[in-house]
Amino acid sequence: MTSCDLLLRRCRLLSPAPSVAVEEVEIAIADGKLVAIAPRLDYTASQELDLQGRLVSPPFVESHIHLDSAMTVGEPRWNLSGTLFEGIEIWGERKRHLSAEEIRERAIATLRQQAAQGVLFVRSHVDVSEPSLTALHALLAVREQVQDWITLQLVAFPQDGFYGSPRNVELIEEALRLGTDAVGGIPHYEFTREDGVNSVHRIFELAQKYDRLIDIHCDETDDDQSRFLEVVAACALRSGLGDRVTASHTTAFGSYNNAYATKLLGLVGRSRLNFVANPLINLTLQGRADTYPKRRGLTRVKELWQHGLNVSLGYDCIQDPWYPLGTGNMLDVAHMALHACHMTGTSEIDACYDMVTWNGAKTLHLGDRYGLEVGKPANLIALDARDRFDALGRRPVVTHVISRGRLLVETTPPVTHWHSGPSGGDRPSPSAHENLRIPQ
Ligand code: FE2
Repeated sequence: MTSCDLLLRRCRLLSPAPSVAVEEVEIAIADGKLVAIAPRLDYTASQELDLQGRLVSPPFVESHIHLDSAMTVGEPRWNLSGTLFEGIEIWGERKRHLSAEEIRERAIATLRQQAAQGVLFVRSHVDVSEPSLTALHALLAVREQVQDWITLQLVAFPQDGFYGSPRNVELIEEALRLGTDAVGGIPHYEFTREDGVNSVHRIFELAQKYDRLIDIHCDETDDDQSRFLEVVAACALRSGLGDRVTASHTTAFGSYNNAYATKLLGLVGRSRLNFVANPLINLTLQGRADTYPKRRGLTRVKELWQHGLNVSLGYDCIQDPWYPLGTGNMLDVAHMALHACHMTGTSEIDACYDMVTWNGAKTLHLGDRYGLEVGKPANLIALDARDRFDALGRRPVVTHVISRGRLLVETTPPVTHWHSGPSGGDRPSPSAHENLRIPQ
């Protein structure tokens, strides 16, 4: 009999291919890795967990968040217009009073909240257009501090643009020298179209010089004349960087006329870009200048997915100047995407689940660090669901989070007690949020 550190019994293992039926297996973990997966394993273990037929999935991936501004809502004031641009103004006021300690505290509190809900991979943008780089230094330290339980990627993001202030180009390069994983930008916010185009070219030069990934806030506006995605796609194609490049938001794509959108779909398909949509936030921020009908302000998620492009989803903001709400629950993000993007067919719902798991891993370029195959790091979650559809339909509690081969978080689902009424007693019954699981 072989020994291992942790043996998981009665796991209903989710396959990367939605068409493959979920099967019940046992999973052996040793030295932080998945060492065996089979219907029956002959292992002894230091610790055993009976997952009672719960769905076992790779962890959720948060493809796009801003940890430096998380949990600052109302400071110093509320965003009354609800627009991206008032949010940038408010953050401009707030960031004059940042301290490394408060950023660290807010970031770790947010990461803990995410991890407790099954998120073990996070890409955070960090504003590097603030001259002291306080937020960057704080989040670089956080990345080290949390590495034993959650993977944090940082994107050097100039919130005020490359050319909004004379020092910004140097600050962005300094952020790359200090070790950010990716370089970002915000071409639609630059003063002129020429500045926007130049910023995209500069991003690609810096990515090649420092060998980093690219993730650009691109065309996050309802302006149908904002057309930087074509520049990003052309640069990705010509440079050969392809799937190392991500276009985030691209909400103007939802406003382009169909003739141009069709041409653009062909170009982005050749470029192999990743796309990140942030449905909770962009439904809220966009359309603010519209009368009725109001646009949804989302990129063409469904069409990009139909064209075989990699689309993942992000929360973007948790309780900050751009979005006052937010919990970090990625099932909420996917649930909103399937509504707002009209993805209610069965394969479309399955795809929305993949957008917060496997697709996110592709965006973050995780490679063999992600997935539930033998030999890979043992990162997985268990939830009370039968399959992808059921997980999105009921958004159940993530009961177990296993990170680096160790049980990191365990959550007990709520139980509802009826004290009168049709059940006629106080016998515990599953709550609406918990257990409607159908036995195999
Ligand atoms: Fe963002």
